[in-house]
Amino acid sequence: MRATDIITKKRNGVELLDSEIEGLIKAYTTDEIPDYQMAAWLMAVYFQGMTDRETAALTMAMAKSGVMVDLSQVPGIKVDKHSTGGVADTTTLVLAPLVAAAGVPVAKMSGRGLGFTGGTIDKLEAIPGFKATLERDEFIANLQKYNIAVTGQSAIIAPADGKLYALRDVTATVESIPLIASSIMSKKIASGADKIVLDVKVGSGAFMKNQAEAITLAETMVRIGQLVGRETVAILTSMEQPLGAAIGNSLEVREAIEVLSGRGEPALREVCLTLGSHMLVLGGKALTTEAARRQLEGLIGSKQALAKFGEFIAAQGGDADIINNTSNLPQARYVLEVNSDCQGFVKEINAAQIGYAAMLLGAGREYKGQVIDLAAGVVIKCRIGQYISPKQPIATIYSNDKSKLDQVALILKKAVSIHTQAVENPPLIIGLVTKNGLYID
Ligand code: URA
Ligand code: CA
Repeated sequence: MRATDIITKKRNGVELLDSEIEGLIKAYTTDEIPDYQMAAWLMAVYFQGMTDRETAALTMAMAKSGVMVDLSQVPGIKVDKHSTGGVADTTTLVLAPLVAAAGVPVAKMSGRGLGFTGGTIDKLEAIPGFKATLERDEFIANLQKYNIAVTGQSAIIAPADGKLYALRDVTATVESIPLIASSIMSKKIASGADKIVLDVKVGSGAFMKNQAEAITLAETMVRIGQLVGRETVAILTSMEQPLGAAIGNSLEVREAIEVLSGRGEPALREVCLTLGSHMLVLGGKALTTEAARRQLEGLIGSKQALAKFGEFIAAQGGDADIINNTSNLPQARYVLEVNSDCQGFVKEINAAQIGYAAMLLGAGREYKGQVIDLAAGVVIKCRIGQYISPKQPIATIYSNDKSKLDQVALILKKAVSIHTQAVENPPLIIGLVTKNGLYID
């Protein structure tokens, strides 16, 4: 099998064999195929697409390019969750302790972030003392004992995906449904998930701007899950505005504690309860999503979910007292309220601009390896549809760099557009894709 034959076949719209896809990925991972041939193949895939069988073969070939984590020693169905990215997406920090408290084992291998805020690992590192790198034995032991463990993702998880993603990024081949679907699914499968819940974000602040494309992506991933024996459910959620109120690492930990305490931004709570309900059903801890939801609400109300968060933090060396006293989290030196210049209804909150503002403050990374400021970020004080009076605060800036305050305040004022006419808040949960099909709310 020569690479040129496989490129020609895909270019001409002929379905590839599993063995051809496996061979190609293996050869690319071991540097036997140069970037220029892989780039040509990716562009052929971009134009010709892939069948479900091809996409499933690509998913498994990428998953198997590194270590396939074996969690069979841990009893129970391991259900992993993935969000396709967004702004103020604090769902993982809430869901991990919440579903662990309900008895679903949470084994998370998370990454550091690139972009608006840190990844889950960066956020957890805002907790004093928290150790985000666990050896394999410790990871398994914590899972068995506490039902929850989180560790930084090392290079061994689906290395082919990392290499391919870097190439896609510079060859205009990121926006291909089969390539995105296989990229996401390969990492979840290699991380040991038995079943998968996907949060596919749609809207101006998301990777998928358009609902039809988001549905296609969700359906593709659910079908791949079926084909490879990892049942998958995808929830389509709106990202027309930041999901939670906080954008920034220690600010998001604080917000997660709020939600686990039964307070916090209702939209963030709602998405967490929806995703969590499906995780409980897939994990065999509830028969219906309605029953699962009542269970999760009970765990929040009784403070058991919050206690699980504290137990998890302590198990990984962190200061568990932060669940009662968030003042022990890193605090910014400067706190500035941004007030509205006008009055009216909030029409738009540009999530991407707000994410950019948080990154300028040091909450996120512009380049790999950049040191982030765990205390920095933004808290949004309004939602779409809300009436704002003149001089009412629309956001709060948290910064350790005084020189950034004015520039960021200006970006935030521009990001929140206020109109005289009443505006409706867009629906939050757009739809659901399961192995039985698509449901639109
Ligand atoms: N996220 C991923 O992990 N992979 C993609 O290809 C796109 C988004
Ligand atoms: Ca995220």
